[in-house]
Amino acid sequence: MRLLTLSGVLVVLLSALTAGQTPPDCWDCHRDKLDRAAFESSVHNDLACTDCHSDVRSVPHEQRPRRPSPQVCAGCHPSQASEYQQSIHGRARAQGISEAAHCADCHSAHTVFSKADPRSSVFVRNLPQTCGRCHENSGISERFGIAPRRYSTYLESYHGISVKYGSLIAANCSSCHGSHLILAASDPNSSIHPQNLPKTCGQCHPNARENILKGAVHVEATPNVSPGVYAVRVFYTVFIGALLGFFLLHISLDVIRWLRRRYGQGTDQRTE
Ligand code: HEC
Ligand code: HEC
Ligand code: HEC
Ligand code: HEC
Ligand code: HEC
Ligand code: HEC
Ligand code: HEC
Repeated sequence: MRLLTLSGVLVVLLSALTAGQTPPDCWDCHRDKLDRAAFESSVHNDLACTDCHSDVRSVPHEQRPRRPSPQVCAGCHPSQASEYQQSIHGRARAQGISEAAHCADCHSAHTVFSKADPRSSVFVRNLPQTCGRCHENSGISERFGIAPRRYSTYLESYHGISVKYGSLIAANCSSCHGSHLILAASDPNSSIHPQNLPKTCGQCHPNARENILKGAVHVEATPNVSPGVYAVRVFYTVFIGALLGFFLLHISLDVIRWLRRRYGQGTDQRTE
């Protein structure tokens, strides 16, 4: 009996000792900036921190660890990475332009979800904002001489309005620009080069003719820049608003009628 208690105490002591010897967990120190629950529900929940932060060899760190580059992601996602490297963003990044998008700018670093997951930064409804973070930023468009206000001009377009009202099939940024092989309109290989528009738009507009291709897809709808488009947009918004209102009214009238019929009859029967 005494022997048993003694060995019990020893086991407890030993485990306490070994616990003290295991190096501190990354979470012990990085809880403040990182959301553990979100990371653990992400697609990378099975990965160790050091799968991406391979330069972290000792804790505490003697040197400040580097921010993982697209090369780190490339190790496990080679096909997306090779497209990315040929894209305008990848080439700019390779030249040291740190404002150009890298993998984590579009996907986030620790909350990566499947593109079909509404929490994903590249989910249909979230993507315009993800690209818009840079392409609505006038500092970036002026600095690189690229077309400004791509987010708001998209929101003003047919596609943007449809997505806003719940469509999951109307075009978003990557339907027209691609997601990894994004190129400038002037590049003949670009999905938005004028010669390739019939194919790009044809994915969803199989009978796309000249006139539909001429329609602006980034619409500057302010009363002074293009009063026509502005008027159409106001009309569209009012029209859809009215349509929805009418629809709701119709449903509520239907429900009232149903309630009346059901409970109205109920009282009739009881009074009989
Ligand atoms: C004992 C505490 C401690 C532990 C454990 C720890 N770190 Fe750190 N880490 C730090 C501190 C302090 C910094 C510097 C943070 C700062 O200056 O904002 C840092 C910086 C970093 C950075 C760079 C942050 C940046 O802003 O660029 C990375 C990446 C990192 N740690 C990853 C890890 C990983 C992966 C682990 C687990 C293997 C880990 N750390 C474990 C304390 C710790
Ligand atoms: C799938 C790869 C991947 C995994 C796994 C990963 N990280 Fe990161 N981490 C990154 C990338 C990429 C960045 C840089 C983001 C940037 O440059 O915007 C980063 C940045 C950081 C930073 C700097 C602060 C910040 O949030 O930007 C810290 C600290 C960090 N990671 C800690 C961790 C810890 C701790 C773990 C494990 C729980 C971990 N990382 C797992 C890819 C990863
Ligand atoms: C400019 C934004 C952007 C950058 C940069 C980017 N991605 Fe993506 N990625 C997307 C979008 C958008 C999707 C969703 C595509 C879709 O809906 O079909 C996606 C999808 C993916 C997928 C899911 C499979 C697939 O191809 O649909 C993987 C894996 C992926 N990206 C990895 C990467 C890696 C690795 C890098 C860096 C080498 C990277 N991405 C850089 C926007 C980006
Ligand atoms: C050590 C390997 C590894 C590294 C490094 C890695 N991933 Fe992944 N990634 C995976 C695995 C495994 C999955 C889950 C695959 C699946 O569910 O089909 C995944 C899934 C993804 C997905 C979701 C794909 C989909 O189904 O839509 C994206 C996006 C993604 N990773 C982006 C990145 C980015 C960005 C980086 C760099 C910051 C990165 N990965 C680094 C292994 C890795
Ligand atoms: C982190 C910031 C950032 C994000 C996020 C980003 N971009 Fe970019 N993008 C840039 C920068 C910077 C350039 C200019 C690069 C250069 O000219 O060298 C650029 C260039 C472009 C160009 C070529 C413009 C031209 O006139 O040459 C297109 C098209 C483009 N991006 C589309 C997108 C799309 C679509 C998304 C989202 C799927 C996206 N970008 C996400 C920063 C970003
Ligand atoms: C319906 C297709 C379509 C959608 C959706 C779309 N674009 Fe475009 N985008 C184009 C076309 C076509 C051009 C070239 C003609 C123009 O500027 O209108 C263009 C031009 C651009 C340019 C300038 C490229 C250059 O080389 O001059 C950028 C940057 C850009 N778009 C980003 C975005 C972003 C960010 C989104 C989402 C918020 C988006 N686009 C949504 C089709 C689209
Ligand atoms: C991912 C699918 C998709 C792609 C790619 C796409 N569109 Fe659309 N587009 C739609 C849908 C869906 C609608 C109907 C939106 C609504 O009115 O609810 C639409 C509506 C339009 C309209 C409004 C008039 C009409 O016929 O309904 C125009 C104009 C248009 N698209 C032009 C273009 C052009 C130009 C391109 C290529 C640069 C393009 N679209 C690429 C899905 C797409």
